[in-house]
Amino acid sequence: MNLISKSANPLIGSVSAELPGDKSISHRAALFAAFADGTSRIEHFQVSGVTRPMLQALTSFGIQWSLDGETLTVEGRGISAWKNPTFPIDCGNSATTLRLLAGAIAGAGVTATLDGSYGLRRRPMDRIVEPLRKMGAVIKTTPGGIAPLTIQERSEGQKLKPLTYDLPVASAQVKSCLLLAALGAEGTTLLNEPGPSRDHTERMLSSMGVTVNSYEVEAHNTLRYMVELTPPNPLKLLPLNMSLPADPSAAAFLIVAALIIPGSSLTLKGVCLNPTRTGLLDGLQAMGADISFSNQHEAGGELVGDLQVNASELQGTEVSGPLVVRMIDEFPIFAIAAAVSNGTTTVHDAKELRLKESDRIAMLATELRLLGVEIEEHSDGFTIHGGKLQGGTVESHGDHRLAMSLAVAGLAAESPVTVRNAECTAESFPAFAEILQKLGASISTEG
Ligand code: S3P
Repeated sequence: MNLISKSANPLIGSVSAELPGDKSISHRAALFAAFADGTSRIEHFQVSGVTRPMLQALTSFGIQWSLDGETLTVEGRGISAWKNPTFPIDCGNSATTLRLLAGAIAGAGVTATLDGSYGLRRRPMDRIVEPLRKMGAVIKTTPGGIAPLTIQERSEGQKLKPLTYDLPVASAQVKSCLLLAALGAEGTTLLNEPGPSRDHTERMLSSMGVTVNSYEVEAHNTLRYMVELTPPNPLKLLPLNMSLPADPSAAAFLIVAALIIPGSSLTLKGVCLNPTRTGLLDGLQAMGADISFSNQHEAGGELVGDLQVNASELQGTEVSGPLVVRMIDEFPIFAIAAAVSNGTTTVHDAKELRLKESDRIAMLATELRLLGVEIEEHSDGFTIHGGKLQGGTVESHGDHRLAMSLAVAGLAAESPVTVRNAECTAESFPAFAEILQKLGASISTEG
């Protein structure tokens, strides 16, 4: 399927429940509910290409769940009720599913093989395997430290060792994997991260009765982000009853579209405003974006609020350091804002972008050049000299966020943009094109 977008009307209106529930919180809610004792009810769950593999995996471990629209019900019977699956678990394209499940499997002490798409097999798994082995987990990987990987059951009554570990890169997937494994360990696990990665795991486990402490320490003039987890004894987790906020990483495409299409005025309601996720908003505001917040409140342990976004003249900016971690998934759409801004935008400290659903530094450079953008690639980021976007035909490389970003580029380009192989938008935002159409954008599908 191709997406074809072109500049037409301003985006005017309001979106709320149509936005998908947050992807990261959806993954965690489904999985953690399967560890709980009792029935969890999760509303506004993200039903998408990347959350399906997590739900299917739960079935393989003998967990019962049902989905009624966007309401997920999970029958948790505690960590000890997890069964060995009979087949390898297919995590599709979802690294979150694979890495979080690896920790859960180690914590539950079952045997399972985790595998996924060709794209997922390319992504590094040694970052979870090495620390899990330090905890005593027995894991077989494919040469190169990639999937498929098999985690072996422990002998009867044997627990994992608690871990004290410095994460070499800030990663919520690695941190969450290790915190889940730590539930099956005896004693306190202490993790030390170089950046403020998303903290949904900590918040959710706390709400389920686990003692989790997060704090910052300064060492050699840099901040380190610490998390300490002590599992309750006996391990009994409270079920979840929550409605999930809208995904700020999905809202990001609409926010940038409204900023760069002249005359636009858009309200986005019920968006997750957890400070570990709002890096894009900070970056855009530094560029002069007219974004205001209202109705901020806490729901289900997360900060939620409404956004008002008005079309704005943007100036180039610089992004590096802790801000990179807080906007890690938003660089493809941020690059589109940079491409139409006045002046130069530079991104550094973002090497991790090379290890996402595609090498996002290389793919952004390749595809944006096709739209006439002046972009230089760095080993850890890129520089964009802002100006005008031209039309053209570009490729998604199977990366959902690249596909949606390029389609948004077309809404502000001088002539239409065709994004080839754009069916991957359904991985995290199935209603992407439909919502934009309702707001007045000219975007259509072909093939
Ligand atoms: C996620 C963490 C991030 C992010 C991904 C979702 C999560 O990955 O890119 O889309 O839900 O924990 P890393 O932990 O690899 O940075």
